[in-house]
Amino acid sequence: MALVTTKDMFAKAYAGKYAVGAFNVNNMEIIQAITEAALEEKSPVILQVSAGARKYAKPTYLTKLVEAAIIDTGLDVALHLDHGGAGLSKEDAFLEIKSCVDGGFSSVMIDGSHYTLAENIELTKRCVEYAHAHGVVVEAELGKLAGIEDAVNVAEEDAQFTDPSEVEEFVTKTGVDSLAIAIGTSHGAFKFKPGQEPRLRFDILEDIQKRLPSFPIVLHGASSVMQDWVKVVNEHGGKMPDAIGIPEEMLRQAAAMAVCKINIDSDIRLVFTASIRKHFADNPGHFDPRQYLTTARANAKEMVKHKIRNVLGSSGKL
Ligand code: G3H
Ligand code: 13P
Ligand code: ZN
Repeated sequence: MALVTTKDMFAKAYAGKYAVGAFNVNNMEIIQAITEAALEEKSPVILQVSAGARKYAKPTYLTKLVEAAIIDTGLDVALHLDHGGAGLSKEDAFLEIKSCVDGGFSSVMIDGSHYTLAENIELTKRCVEYAHAHGVVVEAELGKLAGIEDAVNVAEEDAQFTDPSEVEEFVTKTGVDSLAIAIGTSHGAFKFKPGQEPRLRFDILEDIQKRLPSFPIVLHGASSVMQDWVKVVNEHGGKMPDAIGIPEEMLRQAAAMAVCKINIDSDIRLVFTASIRKHFADNPGHFDPRQYLTTARANAKEMVKHKIRNVLGSSGKL
């Protein structure tokens, strides 16, 4: 039981044709839900923390809660910085990475995807050198994850996706340990327009896999936005019309290819919100947070178990 890097997790996932779930955490209940699910499923797990999560909870709380979860479950857990440096200057991006490496993370993402290729390489390389010197692994990103309005025509769509011809140079020059790519997923609960057929560019993934044999690929924006839970939200005073995610079978297909890490945040938010909305509707007299958070935590745990078993394929892979 320890904080571990993703190195062994990814090597096993690649060989075994499954993916490890990287779940975003913001508070104690979410951390407990994910780690208890992983324990019951005997699954490897990555807990990831965004800049927003660090701001919300204060960094110390999250690292200490993750330590507590490791002690409680006896699991090996990777603690990962999600989208490190996003929206920051290159100097501030490096400082954010440094702060997490120094603060006990075992894995960090440097998100330089908004920079030119040369600048992304320069920033990523600097972060890799610092992280590797401290035993921490690094994920980087090439390509831009689209929002539903972003891809207006094929030429523009192609411009957003990861360009396979850049990946070998990027990985060789930076020394990065894993690579997030853009093949049609996007962040949030509204990934496709109603009536639009969900589509991922498996041809790009395949091309990248050929160019980078055995190299772990990461899929961001991979929530399925489970329709049963969207319905619960909408039936209990919420407003999430046309919330649509990535079909589970597409994620299973990606997990059987080079994708070793699948990022899930929106589905946790959705289950929590739906559970709490329904809990209040069913129990209008409740006002103890432990009552509704118990419901939310239990439902989130079941959802994570479902992902591990039926989407990621990581059940029993410890
Ligand atoms: O990729 C983004 C994650 O869903 C984290 O979101 O920055 O609102 O914490 P956040
Ligand atoms: P979702 O919004 O699809 O859950 O994606 C989360 C993510 O990619 C975090 O980095
Ligand atoms: Zn992401």
